[in-house]
Amino acid sequence: MNRTTRRWRVTMGATVAGLGLLAATALSAQAAGSTLHEAAADQGRYFGTALAQGKLNDTQYTTIADREFGMITAENEMKMDATEPQQGVFDYSAGDRIVDWATGHGKQVRGHALAWHSQQPGWMQSMEGSALRQAMLNHVTQVATHYRGKVYAWDVVNEAFSDNGDGSRRDSNLQRTGNDWIEAAFEAARAADPDAKLCYNDYNTDSWTNPKTQAVYAMVKDFRSRGVPIDCVGFQAHFNSGNPVPNNYHETLQRFADLGVDVQITELDIEGSGGSQAEQFSGVTQACLAVERCTGITVWGVRDTDSWRASGTPLLFDGNGQKKAAYHAVLDVLNGGEPGDGGSATS
Ligand code: G3I
Repeated sequence: MNRTTRRWRVTMGATVAGLGLLAATALSAQAAGSTLHEAAADQGRYFGTALAQGKLNDTQYTTIADREFGMITAENEMKMDATEPQQGVFDYSAGDRIVDWATGHGKQVRGHALAWHSQQPGWMQSMEGSALRQAMLNHVTQVATHYRGKVYAWDVVNEAFSDNGDGSRRDSNLQRTGNDWIEAAFEAARAADPDAKLCYNDYNTDSWTNPKTQAVYAMVKDFRSRGVPIDCVGFQAHFNSGNPVPNNYHETLQRFADLGVDVQITELDIEGSGGSQAEQFSGVTQACLAVERCTGITVWGVRDTDSWRASGTPLLFDGNGQKKAAYHAVLDVLNGGEPGDGGSATS
């Protein structure tokens, strides 16, 4: 049901039930969206997806993406190996295709990712020291400049902390250029695109008690106190039975937000099926809505079959493009209802 239809039904009901009911029903009807994007927008949030440029000619894929999502992330096309395949030779063709599709359909774009230990082009993988530092900063500057004005938020640095339980930085060629490589990347990104929100993005930072979460928090707190230009923290949110949504997820998001940065759920997927998967998607959505500075949620793909871990069926649409229980659960939460009650417009 589109907005016009919902409002027509509201008006018909009012003639029977009176003006008081009209006011109450109109309020709830206006708060209800029939798509993820519309329902999230009514809550002052975005709802996005990752897209792969190789699938932009799949009409089922693009129809769902256009209908349901308002924020687009290039799944691979804006990464370092894609955008600078040879040193100093930049190729924006695949990234531009995603951006052009997004802007042509009235969507915003999250940029992913300017500096990362993974998916480096071959020439960069073998570099170290000051030559690598300069190459990384030039990459950040060139790519952020190319997309200036087109990107709502950048994942400036991705996955820079280790999973070894001591909160240390991940060992990488970038880390070995000096501990200040992250702030240097943020400074370069700010200079190149002063209007984009600049995010630090990572995974396994969902539980507040995880040492990795604490280490990222300490870095963001330090950056804020020293004026390093950071605007947001991205929580990738790749969940499965071995790594479920933690009970303290809301606390994690709130603690970071309290540092004065936006928080965003940037790569959400949850392996599973049916009610238990739906329940976890609801929990993540509720946690975001409960934090004023949680500005949006992006799922990491459209249909289960589009996922980087397709066998785990971790997304909101099945391989036939049908809405799953998890989809309805997320929409219900976005519409302000309890999961499963159909949302405020239809209850
Ligand atoms: O494009 C080539 C294709 O030409 C070739 O035939 C094929 C053979 O393997 O590979 C294709 O490239 C693959 C690419 O995805 C596109 O499908 C790469 O091998 C593969 O490594 C790459 O995987 C991506 C992965 O990042 C790489 O790290 C996934 O699609 C992408 O979903 C995933 O996304 C990451 C985020 O960037 C960061 N957070 C974790 C997340 C999941 O791993």
